[in-house]
Amino acid sequence: MNPRYLSQFLSKSSAGVATHIFSAFGTIVALCGFVGCDSKPIGSKFVLSERTEELISPARKRVQDQLTEDFGTPQDLVAWLRFPVDYGMHKGTIKDVEATDQGSYKFAVDWTDADAESLRIRRGAGLMMTSGDYAGTNVKVNHYAPESGRIHIDAFMNPAPAVGDELTVVGGKLQAGRMLYMEHCVHCHGTSGDGNGPTAKYLNPKPRDYRLGKFKFTTTKPLEKIATSDLKRTVKLGIPGTYMPSFMLLKDDELSAIVEYVRWLAIRGEMEARIVNELHGDYSTADVRERVKGGETNDEIEEELQTLFDEDFSETVDDLASGLAADWLRADEEPSLILPNVPRVPDSLESQERGKKLYLSGDTKCVSCHGPTGRGDGSSTEEFWDIPGSQPIQKYAVRGLHDDWGNPIKPRDLTRGIYRGGRRPIDIFCRIYAGIKGTQMPAFGGKTGPKDLKDEDIWDIVNYVLSIPYETDRAIHEPLSIPPLEQTTAATE
Ligand code: HEC
Ligand code: HEC
Repeated sequence: MNPRYLSQFLSKSSAGVATHIFSAFGTIVALCGFVGCDSKPIGSKFVLSERTEELISPARKRVQDQLTEDFGTPQDLVAWLRFPVDYGMHKGTIKDVEATDQGSYKFAVDWTDADAESLRIRRGAGLMMTSGDYAGTNVKVNHYAPESGRIHIDAFMNPAPAVGDELTVVGGKLQAGRMLYMEHCVHCHGTSGDGNGPTAKYLNPKPRDYRLGKFKFTTTKPLEKIATSDLKRTVKLGIPGTYMPSFMLLKDDELSAIVEYVRWLAIRGEMEARIVNELHGDYSTADVRERVKGGETNDEIEEELQTLFDEDFSETVDDLASGLAADWLRADEEPSLILPNVPRVPDSLESQERGKKLYLSGDTKCVSCHGPTGRGDGSSTEEFWDIPGSQPIQKYAVRGLHDDWGNPIKPRDLTRGIYRGGRRPIDIFCRIYAGIKGTQMPAFGGKTGPKDLKDEDIWDIVNYVLSIPYETDRAIHEPLSIPPLEQTTAATE
C-alpha cells in the first residue's frame, strides 16, 4: 500500500479541497500512463523545449516543476480538468465494500453511464471520491474486474468508504491513448510530441511537432485551432505523399483515444511555450548577461525572479491556461468551422476557366508560389524569406519557403494530384479558404474587400486545381493571359 496516494489532494484551487471537486474547474487528477506506475522505460521523459533550456536555472526549474505538477510525467500522467480534453470519466456509486487482506478495499460499483462489462478501467487510473466522508480524495485504481464491476483501489482508508458514496474514475481514455501512441506514433513524433522520435531524422517532411499547437490540415477558419474531428481524420487516413501512415485499421475508440492524447500533448507543449514567454526577455542566460553588463548583479536578478514566483506567478499560469483552454474549446464549436455559404459550383469547363484566371491573377498570387503551370516552382521559391518574429528581422539561410517550425517547404506541385490534406473538393476548398496553417500559404476566404475571393470564386479555383493534373501539356504552356505566339510576333512587327 502506498500511503502517498492518500495524501494526494489534487485540487488546484487554492481554497483547498473542494467538496465537489469534479465540478471545480481546474482540478487536476493524477493517473498512471503505463501499467505499473513505477516502471520507467528508458528515454521516456518529457523533454524541455529549446527555449526553456535557454532560461537561467531557477527559471528553468520553475517551468519544469510547473509542467510536472500540471501534466505529470509519461509514467504518471496528470489530468488537468480545466482543459477541454476528453480524459475519460465514469461516475458510479459504491454498492458494497470488501476489505482485502492487505488492508485496502474492493468496491462493487453501480456505474451511472455504462455497464460494468463495457468499461475498460486500467491500473493507475485516478479514482476520485465525490461524496461522503472522503469527498475530494483521489486514489489510484489497482485493478478493475469487468465481470463483477469490482474496483480494487491502491490505498488504505480508515474507516472504509460507505455504501452509497459516489466516485468518478478519471483518465482511462488518456492512458489508453498514451499506450497506443507509444506503440504507433512515438518513433516518429517523440515522447513529448516534439516530432523528434528516433526515426524523424530520416524523414522529409519532418513529423509534426505538436507543441506549437498548430496543425496544417484543418476544417477550421484561419486563426482557429484544429478541430478534434480533423485530427481523427488525419490519423485515420494518413497524409498522402509523406511518411505519415494511415491508421485505418485501428478501431474507432482507439483512434479517438490517440487523438485525445495528441491534443493533450499539444496543450502541454503550448502551456510550456506560454509560460516561457513570460520569462524570456528578462531571464534567459543571454538576458541576464546583458543585465549584468548594465550594472545589475546576479543575486539581484535571482531575487527579483524569486519575488515574481512568490507573488503572482501562479495566477499568471492560471490565466495562460484559461486562454489556452478557451482556444481549444472554440475549435470544436460550429462558428469556427469553414462552412461554404454556397454549394460547390458545378465542375464545368467555364468554372475551371474562371478558376484559372483567378489562379493566374495578381490578386491571388498563386503563381508566385505554385508557378504558372502549377509545378510548385514559382518565383517565391527562389527568394530569401524573413524569419517571422525575428528582432531585428533575419532571413532564413536557404532560399524558399519555410513553415513555422523552421523547416524548408515547397509549394505543392499541383500537376501531381496528390493532396496532403485530402483530395475531396471540400478539402481543397478548406486549404484555400484558411490557407495551410503554420505555412506561408495564405488564407483567401472569409474576407470582404472588393478584390477578395468569395466562396463561389474559391469553388472555381477548386475546380481548376483539381483539373490541373489532367490539363494537356499544350494547354498548360499556354496560360489564358498570354496570346498565341503568331499574334505576339505580328504585334511587335
Ligand atoms: C513513419 C513516421 C510517422 C508515424 C509512425 C506517424 N506519423 Fe504522424 N506525421 C508524420 C509526418 C512526416 C508528418 C508531417 C506531414 C506533413 O507535414 O505534411 C506527420 C503529421 C502528423 C500530424 C499533423 C497533421 C496536421 O494537420 O498538421 C498529426 C496530427 C499526426 N501526424 C499524428 C500521428 C499519430 C497520432 C500517429 C500514430 C497513430 C502518427 N502520426 C504516426 C510521420 C509519422
Ligand atoms: C506564399 C506562397 C503560396 C501562395 C501565394 C499560395 N500557396 Fe498554395 N501552398 C503553398 C505551400 C508552401 C504549400 C505546401 C504547404 C505544406 O504542406 O507544408 C501549398 C499547398 C497548396 C495546396 C495543397 C493542399 C494539400 O492538401 O496538399 C494547394 C491545393 C494549394 N496550395 C493551392 C493554392 C492556390 C489555389 C493558391 C492561390 C489561391 C495558393 N495555393 C497560393 C504556398 C503558397
